[in-house]
Amino acid sequence: MKYHNLVKAARKAIKFSYSPYSRFRVGAAVLTASGKIYTGCNIENSSFSLTICAERTALFKAVSERHRKFRAIAIVSDNKEFTPPCGACRQVMLELAGDIDVILSNANGNTKIVKLNTLLPIPFDAKTLKH
Ligand code: THU
Repeated sequence: MKYHNLVKAARKAIKFSYSPYSRFRVGAAVLTASGKIYTGCNIENSSFSLTICAERTALFKAVSERHRKFRAIAIVSDNKEFTPPCGACRQVMLELAGDIDVILSNANGNTKIVKLNTLLPIPFDAKTLKH
């Protein structure tokens, strides 16, 4: 599979998940245009809304180290089902990465690749703000 290393990196990041409340561990890995991989996990808080998802952790790490072009993001959990990104993460991914490949991988290692535009088909984005 084209994104084998990216999925592997996302799977490794699961072990750093701080998720004592949901016990739902998520790992993500984003691939920059230059070929670098940044990983992230979900980090929860007793004030629940302060929780950050694995995808945003990974992307924010990359952007904070000057990366502004991306090819793909892999999302993995311990779940037998695929873990699609939440709405907030779809919006953030579109803003920072555009129409990248989103690779979903389940606990059994099955993978599925979808375009972000398929996950967020009618976005509110920078174009919407132009008037
Ligand atoms: N979570 C993610 O990390 N990514 C998603 O796209 C969906 C949800 C996390 C947030 C929270 O820590 C746990 O999964 C349960 O919602």
